[in-house]
Amino acid sequence: MAHKVGIVGASGYGGAELVRLLEAHPDLDLEVVAAHSQAGEPVSSLYPNLAGDRVFDEVDLGRLIGLDLVFLATPHGPSLQLGGALRHADTRVVDLSGGFRLTAQDFSSWYGEEHPTPDLTPTPGVATPTGEPDRAVYGLPEMFRDSIRGSSFVANPGCYPTAALLGLAPLAPLLEAGSVVIDGKSGSSGAGRAAADRLHFSHVHGDLTAYGAPAHRHTGEIETWLPGDLGPVSFTPHLIPMSRGLFITGYGSTTDGVGPDEVADALHTAYDDEPFVHVLAAGTFPHTKALAGSNGVQVSAVVDERAGRVLVTCAIDNLGKGAAGQALQNANLMLGLPEQTALSALGVYP
Ligand SMILES: NC(=O)c1ccc[n+]([C@@H]2O[C@H](COP(=O)([O-])OP(=O)(O)OC[C@H]3O[C@@H](n4cnc5c(N)ncnc54)[C@H](OP(=O)(O)O)[C@@H]3O)[C@@H](O)[C@H]2O)c1
Repeated sequence: MAHKVGIVGASGYGGAELVRLLEAHPDLDLEVVAAHSQAGEPVSSLYPNLAGDRVFDEVDLGRLIGLDLVFLATPHGPSLQLGGALRHADTRVVDLSGGFRLTAQDFSSWYGEEHPTPDLTPTPGVATPTGEPDRAVYGLPEMFRDSIRGSSFVANPGCYPTAALLGLAPLAPLLEAGSVVIDGKSGSSGAGRAAADRLHFSHVHGDLTAYGAPAHRHTGEIETWLPGDLGPVSFTPHLIPMSRGLFITGYGSTTDGVGPDEVADALHTAYDDEPFVHVLAAGTFPHTKALAGSNGVQVSAVVDERAGRVLVTCAIDNLGKGAAGQALQNANLMLGLPEQTALSALGVYP
């Protein structure tokens, strides 16, 4: 029998991408597509790709509680409220916001507010919430698959942290503490659907700029979940003039004796059995365009032996593996379904 699922925030970019993916899922029935200001509007009026008769629902907690799983594709404020209420009613949740990705203490320092439900935040330093089944599990399947499988509550990673961690985590044991620097680039859909002056076509088109450095919230998330004790990370995100796609370039000083073979081995050991991650040959680099609409990841590393540094690049679709695709991958795991159901590793191209 199919599982009944719902989305809150279905009128946003992440939520609408989930609608698209769930319409093709053989084992999940999409019962609720809730929105906030857009409740009552036809889905197709905002998203012409989602042709059909669906209308955005009101957010009705009673109706959501009766579902097998709810995706929260909302800003962290509503996610904190709804996530707490749904978990107290024992409804499974995948939250796409930053509300439950950090310990309560780290949340308050990176988000500047107290966490309303610290008992639901992830366990410090470890992904497996032993003896504490209600805490959120950090939903990066390539690192924490076993914990996600047994969980009812998953905090879906941020888009930049997904690419940064997939690129750097396997290399962490090969790097000097304190040496990691990450540049991130994202298309404008990473900022969501809400209108903002800086996101107008006439501002973004033909432009490239950085933002948020040196204390973008995703820095804390990357530091929390990067394995080992690599110390502070410097992270600078950039807004680039495209709609979808996210690319990170990570740099770290290599420890003694680390060369191209060790780096290639680390990536292949981590990813050769992973359905969504492709390791490219050293010297070839990922393309965001190749991953559009997919849950795929391309990662590639080269060693700069002259400088004693490794340089790793990783590309994803920010709305795919960076948001909705990964949320569905997590839901498949939580519900005991084949992990790849209704997901593709291959994007549309050109
Ligand atoms: N965009 C990305 O690439 C990306 C990647 C990873 C994670 N995320 C995270 O995913 C979440 C959604 O991001 P997005 O880009 O899809 O944002 P978005 O396009 O701005 O959409 C936000 C959604 O939340 C709804 N909403 C706003 N306030 C609400 C409230 N008080 N109660 C219920 N619903 C409310 C909005 O409804 P109305 O439109 O009807 O008002 C809309 O459906 C955010 O937490 C974001 O940080 C986004």
